[in-house]
Amino acid sequence: MAQPALDDLDLVLKTMATTIVDNAHYFADLDSVVGDGDFGFSLRNGFEVVAEEYDTFDRSSVGSVLKKIGLVISGKVGGVSGPIWGTAFLRAGVKAGDKTELSADDVIAMLRASVEGIMQRGQSALGDKTLLDALIPAIDSLEESFSRPMDDHGVAAVQEAADVAVKAAEDTKGMLAMRGRAAYTGERSRDSVDAGATAIGVILQAISAAWRDKYST
Ligand SMILES: Nc1ncnc2c1ncn2[C@@H]1O[C@H](COP(=O)(O)OP(=O)(O)OP(=O)(O)O)[C@@H](O)[C@H]1O
Ligand SMILES: [Mg+2]
Repeated sequence: MAQPALDDLDLVLKTMATTIVDNAHYFADLDSVVGDGDFGFSLRNGFEVVAEEYDTFDRSSVGSVLKKIGLVISGKVGGVSGPIWGTAFLRAGVKAGDKTELSADDVIAMLRASVEGIMQRGQSALGDKTLLDALIPAIDSLEESFSRPMDDHGVAAVQEAADVAVKAAEDTKGMLAMRGRAAYTGERSRDSVDAGATAIGVILQAISAAWRDKYST
């Protein structure tokens, strides 16, 4: 019988992969303002493989599927995003290990492990104007929601986290880029939103919509 946690994970990961493929041009355009415009296409190189081959991955545990995705991303995604996103999946996979079901605490611990991996790999921190500036507030929001009683399978919690990410991504406009190619542009980087942070908002909105479709009554 299919394990509930693995079914949910399939939904989240497949939604994430197709959203990245569908938004490759948009994400690349965002990166072209102060970067080199490769971000959306780099990510697509990895996530189109994830989308196409997902059903062949070893899905015997949460860790096995996440680690496999980490390897695919590390191998296929160029630039700085390959190591960053690859590490994020690997760290979440290592944290989940051979679990086949996840508690709310497990989910938060996996997301925090991803963030730690990104920070180490990217030598980056909150406030550097990167995807972390959307991801960390979204995880904070999710953790806060999970600490309250929920009777809707987390539908409202996931939507709130997605909204927090979108707002946080918009707020990267005005910030000075400290990492990646955008940092080379100095003060000019303040005039636009960060591509990675915006991508996190778009991906979380898509996951939230899929989650609502599955669970809202
Ligand atoms: N050191 C870093 N740590 C965390 N996130 C980063 C870092 N550098 C860039 N990013 C994120 O990655 C996004 C850009 O990804 P991309 O792969 O295009 O990297 P880049 O900075 O343009 O460098 P390159 O094109 O050489 O890989 C940025 O919008 C930002 O959110
Ligand atoms: Mg780039």
